[in-house]
Amino acid sequence: MRLFPEWVREIRGRDATFFIEQLSARQNPNQSLRILEIGGGDGYIASLVHDAGFEIKSTDPSPREPLVFPVEVMEASRLPYDDNSFDAVISSNVLEHIKNLHDSFAEMTRVLKPNGIMIHSMPTPACSFVSTLTAPIMLLRTWYYFLTGRLQPPEGKPQRLPERLPLAQRINRHPRLARFCYRSLYALWQLQPLRAIRFRYGHGEASGPIDELIIWRESKWRRRFEAARLDVHKVHYGDLCCSMNKLFPFKFMAFRSWVARQGWASTAFYLVSPAASQTSGNGASSGSGAPRPVEMAAASAQ
Ligand SMILES: C[S@@+](CC[C@H](N)C(=O)[O-])C[C@H]1O[C@@H](n2cnc3c(N)ncnc32)[C@H](O)[C@@H]1O
Repeated sequence: MRLFPEWVREIRGRDATFFIEQLSARQNPNQSLRILEIGGGDGYIASLVHDAGFEIKSTDPSPREPLVFPVEVMEASRLPYDDNSFDAVISSNVLEHIKNLHDSFAEMTRVLKPNGIMIHSMPTPACSFVSTLTAPIMLLRTWYYFLTGRLQPPEGKPQRLPERLPLAQRINRHPRLARFCYRSLYALWQLQPLRAIRFRYGHGEASGPIDELIIWRESKWRRRFEAARLDVHKVHYGDLCCSMNKLFPFKFMAFRSWVARQGWASTAFYLVSPAASQTSGNGASSGSGAPRPVEMAAASAQ
């Protein structure tokens, strides 16, 4: 039993479909759009966007192996591209992980062409709320699979001890021992009640589930974008409530869609672009149009 990578593919595939729809609506028949992906992970979304006929560069400070599409190592806050070089910047479930949003937004704005668009997908507070409520059920399920010997680490991860652990280097010299130790530690990690109950763990930069409910609200993201001088054109909610996916992967899809339509969608897409004051004059580059750290800090603190 794997931890359902296929489900993650399904969810990311839906994100890619939305990106492709939006990008296609902006596509000029004579010229392919140039897209930059931030935080591309293993490049799966970039591979789908590429297959749909777009020219895309995927980037991530720590690309996730095994890659399914080339992903260049880079931070969103330091993009080695010329000003005005992309028609669109996209990201899927990344902004909530970025520590330095101020510099990252400034860089995305700088490399975006005037009239370019950013599309960022993010988890919603509803996603956090339902996942937290159902976490104890997940814990029971994990124990069940562990006890029946069916819990396996995610595919593609090197089954060695992380180097930061004591004795890791010595143990990793012996592949079978390293694999055994890795799997034992993985099972223990899965069994941590506090991890399953989630009260000590937040996703991305959130300090915990309560924090997620607060800082992932649409109004908060709107304020962060506004502080970065980015206009929010549209917020689109995804068509699925993804929670309890580990217990019921690919189950109750019609019900999940119905729940999403009642305001419990797990994903929100923000379509934003540099405010008019940034794109007038000399393109979207930094300078007077750049977001101000004081405003960004104030928006994050609110
Ligand atoms: C939840 S993963 C999403 C990966 C991928 N977009 C996907 O949907 O499968 C979040 C990603 O954000 C990336 N990330 C974190 N901080 C970042 C930063 N400062 N700049 C760019 N990417 C960052 C991480 O390396 C990670 O791959």
